[in-house]
Amino acid sequence: MMDCIAQLREKIENWIIQDKASLESFRCDFISRKGAIARLFEAFKQLSIAEKKAIGPALNNLKNEAEKKFKSAASLLESKPSTAQPIGDVTLPSFGPGIGSLHPLTIVQNKIITIFQRIGFNLAEGPEIVGDWHNFSALNFPDNHPARDMQDTFFVQRNPDQLLRTHTTSVQISTCTTQKPPIRSIAVGRVFRNEAISARSHCFFHQVDGMYIHTDVTFSDLKGTIYHFVETLFGPATKLRFRASYFPFTEPSAEVDINCRLCKGKGCTVCKHSGWVEILGAGMIDPHVLTNCHIAPDTYSGFAFGMGIERIAMLLYQIDDLRLFSENHLAFLRQFTVC
Ligand code: DAH
Repeated sequence: MMDCIAQLREKIENWIIQDKASLESFRCDFISRKGAIARLFEAFKQLSIAEKKAIGPALNNLKNEAEKKFKSAASLLESKPSTAQPIGDVTLPSFGPGIGSLHPLTIVQNKIITIFQRIGFNLAEGPEIVGDWHNFSALNFPDNHPARDMQDTFFVQRNPDQLLRTHTTSVQISTCTTQKPPIRSIAVGRVFRNEAISARSHCFFHQVDGMYIHTDVTFSDLKGTIYHFVETLFGPATKLRFRASYFPFTEPSAEVDINCRLCKGKGCTVCKHSGWVEILGAGMIDPHVLTNCHIAPDTYSGFAFGMGIERIAMLLYQIDDLRLFSENHLAFLRQFTVC
């Protein structure tokens, strides 16, 4: 046993502790509960009393020496400066929390809602999956009429009478069948069309639809409302024009153009060199639509209008690709800091 103690002492003395890893192996190999010294103490138990008396002090010395070496190496390593990279100036103020901002479509949607709410329009809501009646039939699209092809539709596979609404005009029907005139409301939301995704079209986008139904509502009321809206949103210098158009649910129908903000009317690719950009559709609500909603067309009349929020946002912020709104690149979204 004396030989074993001598060999182990030599090993312990020659062991170089230079870092935390070699310190830990020293601990495991020699002084842990399963280390070499503990094993010698196990063997020591088997010795006779006389042998114990002879060997005991040497074994105890070895244990004390090993523990002393371990402790002094550990405290030396503790006081050594770390070689890790500096962590920077901890006294500098921290970065503020990233709180995000509203999506540009939400910003524009809120602007539009505010303009109409200030002149007395209520906000109406409707579902995104609707029956054919709400989206087409009640809005005076006859069955199998080519006007239905104006809006390529996604149908629900299990029940083709149900579809993803192609316009928020469907909410006009929900509102007119549940409220009595006078009605002055706008509906905002997502709409869906079966179209290939490109810079100019998408399979989903957002619309605002509005209507005013009362006794004696005229086209002049519509014009006054739209002039007010355009001036408030785009500024008083904006020019606009009403162009005759066709929608099954309005008669007469019109489309409204404003002068192109990108080229200031000189002509560019956005306005197709015409100097004008279409922003909305509008008209006097067709008497058939009022009748479908049990509103008497000889007592009441109304106007309606509808616009794409993406189109308005593109003009306001001079964005030329519709896909940017749904791709969620932070570099794009961070430019819109209004909360
Ligand atoms: N629903 C039409 C579309 O999606 C837009 C529209 C035109 C809405 C005229 C209206 C309206 O309420 O009166 O193209």
